[in-house]
Amino acid sequence: MDRNELPDTKSARVDWVIRAETNQEMRRRYDLWAQDYDGDVGSYEDYLVPYEATKVATRILEKDALILDAGAGTGLVGQALKEAGFHRLIAVDYSEGMLDVARKKQVYETVRQCDLSRPTSFENGSIDCVITCGTTSQMPCASLREFARIVRPGGHVIFAVVPDPWVECGYAEVLSELEAAGKISVKCRGDSFQMLPTTEPEFFCEIWVMDVH
Ligand SMILES: C[S@@+](CC[C@H](N)C(=O)[O-])C[C@H]1O[C@@H](n2cnc3c(N)ncnc32)[C@H](O)[C@@H]1O
Repeated sequence: MDRNELPDTKSARVDWVIRAETNQEMRRRYDLWAQDYDGDVGSYEDYLVPYEATKVATRILEKDALILDAGAGTGLVGQALKEAGFHRLIAVDYSEGMLDVARKKQVYETVRQCDLSRPTSFENGSIDCVITCGTTSQMPCASLREFARIVRPGGHVIFAVVPDPWVECGYAEVLSELEAAGKISVKCRGDSFQMLPTTEPEFFCEIWVMDVH
């Protein structure tokens, strides 16, 4: 692994990862970025999404809910959830480099490497809530079908939605399909906020809550 390949500034690193042209290349770039990720976006001032998503989780979930953090990365969402009192946390991500950092934080019961572009081994209805932050333009939209399958009826998906990629990457279409099949419905859409105010001030995000039926 050649860390010299990493761009020099944090803004350039964010851009470099987002612009990877294939799934494989993006994973490789996350592996390379992993050790610097928290230094670049790990503070509240730099990246609000884990904290905003955790506020929503605190409003709608019991503290003993089993929560799967999809695209968990280095575990920033798990850290925020743990600080808020949640303790049954599972991390999944396809980058081993990112998960290595997450493991060291010891906030997850389980840390599992898994590519969410494929079906997972989680049982139907075995999870109370999937939470996913910073993933809209990256994880394939088929992952939403998988979330609807593994979350129990009455459970939730908390999704930090970036509106343009939500449509461009096909999530809006998959959501319509799942709504028409009566599997999922959008319960609320939070206010829009700057997700990376210091590095990418033009990127906005909304926290959506979906109910699984
Ligand atoms: C911007 S990071 C967000 C990490 C963390 N959720 C956070 O908010 O800090 C996006 C994460 O999604 C993961 N990811 C992207 N595509 C994925 C896929 N197909 N399967 C699993 N993880 C994926 C990346 O490895 C990366 O860790």
